Amino acid sequence: MTEQKATNVHWHEGEIQREHRHKLLGQQGATLWFTGLSGSGKSTVAVALEDALYKRGKLAYRLDGDNIRLGINKNLGFSADDRKENIRRIGEVAKLFVDCGVIVLTSFISPYRSDRDVVRKLHEDSGMPFIEVFVDCALSEAEKRDPKGLYKKARAGEIKNFTGIDDPYEAPAAPEIHLHTDRMTLQQEVDMLLHELEKRGILSA
Ligand code: ADX
Repeated sequence: MTEQKATNVHWHEGEIQREHRHKLLGQQGATLWFTGLSGSGKSTVAVALEDALYKRGKLAYRLDGDNIRLGINKNLGFSADDRKENIRRIGEVAKLFVDCGVIVLTSFISPYRSDRDVVRKLHEDSGMPFIEVFVDCALSEAEKRDPKGLYKKARAGEIKNFTGIDDPYEAPAAPEIHLHTDRMTLQQEVDMLLHELEKRGILSA
């Protein structure tokens, strides 16, 4: 757990509560945490789900590894400590969006189970839904796709600490949703996620 550094700071409650915002938006806030290897399809599924939700009049927002690393987390690399801080900050940002009533779709490799569990706890302690989605894909298939040419570079030793090559990926032990992107269609994956959101009542206030 990251220590609280500032002292004499207190949470300031407003008049408008989370429930009011849910009513306003006609939906509940929730985080869908997509985790998996680079090239497994996290961002692709998140983009498709965002689109499907938009068509139903539901507000989702994507937080994506590469995008976030170009902004708020531009000072972080890929050491275990930096990945941990990357995930911690995303977890806090996701929580703010969920409190706002938004369906957050996060796409980060998030290779360490303990880091993901910290974010899960952060949500659960605040009564916020946290849905871990394992975007499962064989390393050989992700490497074959290699959309950014990074596996090739990692194999050639041009990138160090590349997840799946010379850095670990710890698969979720009990994800709420398990997608197999090397044998499911994108539509099947989106349907499965929509079904989960419906089942949990997240698509209505
Ligand atoms: S995480 O491990 O901290 O969750 P994150 O999802 O933010 O990673 O960023 C991963 C993306 O950064 C990959 O999809 C890839 O495009 C790029 N990348 C660059 N170097 C590495 C590396 N050493 N390991 C993994 N991904 C890398």
